[in-house]
Amino acid sequence: MPRLLFRNAAVVFPDQVRTGSVLVDDGKILDVDAGAVSADEVIDCTGLHLMPGVIDDQVHFRDPGLTHKEDLATASRACAAGGVTSFLEMPNTKPPAVTLQGVREKEQNAARKSLVNYGFYIGATPDNVAELATAADVPGIKIFIGSSTGNLLVDEQEALERIFAETTLPICAHCEDEQTVRANALKFAGTTDIHDHSNIRNVEAAVVATKRATELAKRHKHRFHVLHVSTAAELPLLADAAPYVTAEVCPHHLFFNVDDYDRLGTRIQMNPSIKTADDNRQLFAALLAGTIQVIATDHAPHTLEEKSQAYPQSPSGLPAVENSLALMLNQVAAGRCTISQVAAWMCDAPARVWGIVGKGRIEPGYDADLVLVDLAKQKTIHDAQQHTKSKWSPWDSETLTGWPVQTFLGGRRVYDDTAGFDESIRGDKLDFDHSRGGFWKTPDGIGTR
Ligand code: DOR
Repeated sequence: MPRLLFRNAAVVFPDQVRTGSVLVDDGKILDVDAGAVSADEVIDCTGLHLMPGVIDDQVHFRDPGLTHKEDLATASRACAAGGVTSFLEMPNTKPPAVTLQGVREKEQNAARKSLVNYGFYIGATPDNVAELATAADVPGIKIFIGSSTGNLLVDEQEALERIFAETTLPICAHCEDEQTVRANALKFAGTTDIHDHSNIRNVEAAVVATKRATELAKRHKHRFHVLHVSTAAELPLLADAAPYVTAEVCPHHLFFNVDDYDRLGTRIQMNPSIKTADDNRQLFAALLAGTIQVIATDHAPHTLEEKSQAYPQSPSGLPAVENSLALMLNQVAAGRCTISQVAAWMCDAPARVWGIVGKGRIEPGYDADLVLVDLAKQKTIHDAQQHTKSKWSPWDSETLTGWPVQTFLGGRRVYDDTAGFDESIRGDKLDFDHSRGGFWKTPDGIGTR
């Protein structure tokens, strides 16, 4: 594999940005302070930032079974174009990935099709705890405590207790309370108003489920990750449940709110639903304060035809994987955060939460999954130019400042915004080490389960 020198880059470390040269050999970072050493390729990075590749820990890539919406080839191209070098995919495919065998089949499919690195969660059902307890070599277990797209749901207390008691893999969950959502749906039966999506999947639904799940995590001392936090009201629950609990927020919950329904309609119909402008502000503040550690997209493509059905026939979900980094770099341009914070939320933290070996930082010995970004570049998002098979974005027509311009996977250039993709590259299955105790340590210094 060629030896690469990223010369004169603004290198993004967790605590600082330092100008220097990064040497990559045999797919790994060899030196982060290289001088004028020789290399097979010297990339002049003057004016550009070099950051670790993004790890998106929540995506729905629809393969197998729903490949008219997306597949691993189109989705992974979208990843590469967006600076995402690794993804963790959710089990609500068709069939759902609720056995280790099902997960292994998805990995084999990814080995054939994916341009970037991959891992697949195993999904919980009310009666597969024995399978979950013996599963290994996966990022973790996904529970739908409230149902969303697909038919995965575990909301019986006894089944949840068993999963937390009898398994050791990290658990993550979609936290919207099923009973609350069903009761609200009855109250709003017959509605065709998209605004009611946020009345049905309301703040209470999110809070009840997040409280229930974080209590299970604390009681069973089980490592637990709250997916897509959508309300400010959940934040005290997260703070209270540390060190057992980590959490993430998605760009749509940071940047869209109920006032956008009139403009965007079902394009921003998501589960959990989007909430208010105040929630947007408080969720961003929680990232800055460290109460939320991770940004992921919940990339959930549906075709525009499916989305254009009248609410509530329209499905919930939006594509985002190719725009998430640019959306956050745009926040850097606006002065709301630093690029080191973006790298912490999108690269380092997901690697630590899921025990992903060798990813998430620019450090000697780490894999050379890297993104060159141009913080000054302005580009407008257009539906037709999206790489996702669904060919649309809720951010259509928005101009962002700060874009990834080249993406490298193990030192190989998989995407260049002028030359396009290197279609010959295939990603690797991610390596998970759950023995490290997860993101947090308990107060007595012992890693959580
Ligand atoms: O709105 C959503 N759609 N939320 C999810 O968590 C899943 C998703 C999907 O798979 O379509």
